Amino acid sequence: MSKILIVYYSRKGENYWNGGLKTIDKGNTERVAEFIQKTVGGELFEVETVKPYSESYMTCIEEAKQELRADARPKIKAFPENLEDYDIIFVGYPNWWGTMPMCMFTLLEKYDLSGKTIIPFCTNEGSGMGSSERDLKKICKNAKFKRGLSVHGAESADSEEKVSAWAKKSV
Ligand SMILES: Cc1cc2nc3c(=O)[nH]c(=O)nc-3n(C[C@H](O)[C@H](O)[C@H](O)COP(=O)(O)O)c2cc1C
Repeated sequence: MSKILIVYYSRKGENYWNGGLKTIDKGNTERVAEFIQKTVGGELFEVETVKPYSESYMTCIEEAKQELRADARPKIKAFPENLEDYDIIFVGYPNWWGTMPMCMFTLLEKYDLSGKTIIPFCTNEGSGMGSSERDLKKICKNAKFKRGLSVHGAESADSEEKVSAWAKKSV
């Protein structure tokens, strides 16, 4: 049986929400990650940055923009162990300025993921996956990619059926 890892970044706090702002105590991407685990099993790994992003949406937007412009690699608290043992890796993140938060680059660049199956998922407020799948393919050279899933962030709590159907088909 294939061993599955679900690795994701997700931010709590104030976020953009259907055209307004809303404070959430569980991140949208985290909800989707949990639905995937409920459906196909595997282990969850949450990426956490050493320096947390601001809880204020407007400040976080600026922090993220600066990191993207600088092509930064923000430090993360921990890396998953024994990644080589996994066959299938779901990679989840919010869409930030059209791609993944830069901490996902920090994480993924550390590994040689040749031969692994990568399955991306992305929550967002309308931009879909943006360039994230292209960016992932550049980092995860020689990995096999399955079609990613875009979930509208504000609907993530109600996305179980959609997520579950996609996850089942993907593994
Ligand atoms: C810094 C930042 C940048 C964002 N940029 C975009 C964007 O370019 N396009 C988009 O559709 N949504 C954007 N969003 C909205 C998030 O992608 C969306 O709210 C997502 O579901 C948040 O997931 P999370 O709760 O797991 O962090 C942005 C949010 C933040 C905080």
